[in-house]
Amino acid sequence: MPTSPSTAASLYDRVRRVIPPIEWPAFTDDIDAILALKRERNAVILAHNYQTPEIFHCVADIVGDSLALARKAMSVDADVIVLAGVHFMAETAKLLNPGKTVLIPDLAAGCSLADSITAADVRLMRQRYPAVPVVTYVNTSAAVKAESDICCTSGNALQVVESLGAPRVIMLPDEYLAKNIAAQTKVEIIAWKGHCEVHERFSPADIRELREAHPGVTVLAHPECPPEVVAEADFAGSTAAMSDYVGRHKPARVVLMTECSMSDNVAVEHPEVDFVRPCNLCPHMKRITLANIRAALEENRHIVTIDPDVAERARHTVERMLAV
Ligand code: 13P
Ligand code: SF4
Repeated sequence: MPTSPSTAASLYDRVRRVIPPIEWPAFTDDIDAILALKRERNAVILAHNYQTPEIFHCVADIVGDSLALARKAMSVDADVIVLAGVHFMAETAKLLNPGKTVLIPDLAAGCSLADSITAADVRLMRQRYPAVPVVTYVNTSAAVKAESDICCTSGNALQVVESLGAPRVIMLPDEYLAKNIAAQTKVEIIAWKGHCEVHERFSPADIRELREAHPGVTVLAHPECPPEVVAEADFAGSTAAMSDYVGRHKPARVVLMTECSMSDNVAVEHPEVDFVRPCNLCPHMKRITLANIRAALEENRHIVTIDPDVAERARHTVERMLAV
């Protein structure tokens, strides 16, 4: 039920630098339908920074990194939340909005980090390291969160670890995030062996080649990258922190060692910055499309549900994080 055919057309100006004119007509029908469906269903769309620009800039109501999406999910005033991102993000939104309908447009939008650990693994770690607090990255299932003491994201991991006042913490499941945090704190960190399949592929050699090919380029890296990559970057931070860095420093030329859509989305806001793009695609994030967001709203699918006992315990770990 598209409203006015001009609704989507008026949005093109925003994304013209990153979506070629020849591709735009393929999006307009879905954009108009989604904007109308949001009004009809009193729905909001939360989109992660890795969503493609036609989602991020044209239909999303709330955008950001995992931490911002979790925080903003707490104050959503809508009946329906569509999570344009991966499954753990939709679960987090549901944990914080138990009374609302939370939809994920594709149930297979997973995450290699979330898949690297189970609730039973966390229980084993607790047996092995009794009384050591467990800090769990938000990129995990609700069942894993339920076995943990507190969550963290890449945006607050150091603060969360230090907030516990413990000499040692277990940090699950991202080995590289754990090592990157260990380099910044006196707290001893016990890590797991999970990796992000997107960020583990960047290497220090990539950075050296980029610096040679683009003298003066500023290199920003996500802390899910291996520590040797972070060590060679000019700055490391969450997706929101990288975006803020570009806004604050306005480097003439920048490269973001992260998922591909991130550069497109930040480039829209900063036309004066030249983005070099040796990115890696996240196949899970890319499962979300305008077509399946539209279908989610039309057919009320896929509804995110969490076992009430798991949800109660997992919510506590997320709320504890948000209170830090
Ligand atoms: P951010 O919390 O930095 O947005 O990261 C989420 C993520 O999945 C990165 O791969
Ligand atoms: Fe998971 Fe990596 Fe994709 Fe982020 S980029 S959702 S950590 S696989």
